[in-house]
Amino acid sequence: MFERKAPASAEETYRLLPASLVSLLEGETDALANLANAAALVSASLDRINWAGFYLLRGDELVLGPFQGRPACVRIPLGKGVCGTAAAKRETLVVPDVRAFPDHIACDEASRSEIVVPILDRGALRGVLDVDSPEKNRFGEAERAVLEECVRVLIPRIAWQRL
Ligand code: SME
Repeated sequence: MFERKAPASAEETYRLLPASLVSLLEGETDALANLANAAALVSASLDRINWAGFYLLRGDELVLGPFQGRPACVRIPLGKGVCGTAAAKRETLVVPDVRAFPDHIACDEASRSEIVVPILDRGALRGVLDVDSPEKNRFGEAERAVLEECVRVLIPRIAWQRL
């Protein structure tokens, strides 16, 4: 008989996520396919979230890339919203309550907290990884650490110039 495995704890899922991402991308060079799978894996690995995906730098704005969730705003100028601010500052932003973030861009009314990790490829800004939650205060140090690690894994494995 098969026994159903107990669901992994968030801690265990986060511990395994960077290595899972490495295996998922291994042997495939198509940048769009790899980013799409990366968004799907991140989305499936964090609970209590409603959006996970990428915005890519095109000229001086961020343009929607592969994601999981409801349809989202397509273009975000650098310096605008949580995504544009994280990209312009080149640092991770954790926003515990998006309604208290003056410049937040509400794509999905359900989103209450957000984390955005900039993608910096040897100094060049390529875009951001954005994850939204319907809960306030959803993202803390554990999420920051694992999502920053995911971005570190992605940087050398994605042919950014081909996107
Ligand atoms: N809330 C973001 C916009 C992107 S969506 O959440 C998917 C922001 O303020 O940049």
